[in-house]
Amino acid sequence: MTENSFQRTDDRFRNLSSVRATPGPAPAPRSGFDFDAPFDRAGTGSSKWARAGAPGVIPMGLADMDLPGPPAVAEALERRARHRAYGYTVCDPAGRALVADWYRARHGAAVDPDWVLLLPCGPRTALRVLLETVRPQAPVLLPTPEWGGFAQLCRAARLPHRELPLDLGPDGCRLPSGPLPHPAGALLLSNPHNPSGTVWPADAVRGLATWSAENGTLLVSDEVHGDLTHPGHSHPVAVTTADPAHRHLVVTLNSVGKTFNCSGVPSSFALVPDPGLRARFSESLAGYGLWEGGLLEQTVQQAALREGGPWLDALLAHLAAARTRLTARLGPAVRSTPRASYLLWLDAAALGLPPAEARRALLERCGLEASDGADFGPGGRGSLRLNYALPGSVLATVLDRLERLEHPERPESPSRPSRPSRP
Ligand SMILES: Cc1ncc(COP(=O)(O)O)c(C=O)c1O
Repeated sequence: MTENSFQRTDDRFRNLSSVRATPGPAPAPRSGFDFDAPFDRAGTGSSKWARAGAPGVIPMGLADMDLPGPPAVAEALERRARHRAYGYTVCDPAGRALVADWYRARHGAAVDPDWVLLLPCGPRTALRVLLETVRPQAPVLLPTPEWGGFAQLCRAARLPHRELPLDLGPDGCRLPSGPLPHPAGALLLSNPHNPSGTVWPADAVRGLATWSAENGTLLVSDEVHGDLTHPGHSHPVAVTTADPAHRHLVVTLNSVGKTFNCSGVPSSFALVPDPGLRARFSESLAGYGLWEGGLLEQTVQQAALREGGPWLDALLAHLAAARTRLTARLGPAVRSTPRASYLLWLDAAALGLPPAEARRALLERCGLEASDGADFGPGGRGSLRLNYALPGSVLATVLDRLERLEHPERPESPSRPSRPSRP
């Protein structure tokens, strides 16, 4: 079963129970946003909880956060919903300027508002339509492990593709620096890297853009985890990191869905410096009825980008602290310390789990549901991906349960329920 099998809630999986808070005094929130208190998603139809499979299991597979989204987004949706004009909408050009301002403020990147396409679909759909627009005849290159979507999209669009296994060093995965197989129709880069959380060095991204331009290959940089880069690290935005002479063959894709935890309202934006490609891409999107400027996604995107910065800063502090606690606990099983997002890429054998059955074993022994590394392409077998975007109180329960890997006979701490269920 792949991660993609679980993109929609399925009646076979009914576990909308929440994990009860670890008893004890609640730690004081570090900011006006409380990411430590339990966040009950029961009754919201969460895919992630549906796939956990049994009451009490803590779902750590699917890539969304068990954390409350920005109040600004909730307020904007409420405000807009109160006006009962729900007909077709046009694209507000202010949205493009907001994207450019966001890149300037958060990444010091000079994005031209004219490059921006504001899309009423998630990044997965946007990428599929982009690939159909360019219809590469030569293979699409996929550095692996990758989040699973790249290979799935190429298969679904019947595009030739070729996996490029990445080297894993002590600091994380490494991008290839030498010549790549060519001819290549496109190169799909997960930037930062899902599943390992590696933030690619800017010169490596620039090198890939140069290689792509010299070989007539389109570099598509999927940056949906880029705004989740942890404090102290910086994310190279591909379209502005590339040499200006090479930008015509570079596209950056991003979405507020991942950054602000609102993927249930599908949206994304694309930065496409080349006017010809931009026009062809818009035309293909229109062929699917995907026009810029839909009602809900504009509301969410604008509220998030205009007002969501403080929420995001608080979130990143929370994620970096959670990463530190988990990596300290899991030690050498962490294949690479993440510098972005909320995903840990783990060596199952180093956790004492049977590599071929690691997901099942972790579920049975610890009540923790992870993603199976085999879903991330060649080289993923024997790994697990764990999503640690959890309230502080639930993370404490996770850390406690992980003790069972070393001490299988040890009962869970008496202060914590061994199979927490809905309060
Ligand atoms: C790197 C990356 N790209 C794209 C997507 C697809 O996002 P969506 O399904 O919201 O379109 C994901 C989802 O996990 C992702 O991690």
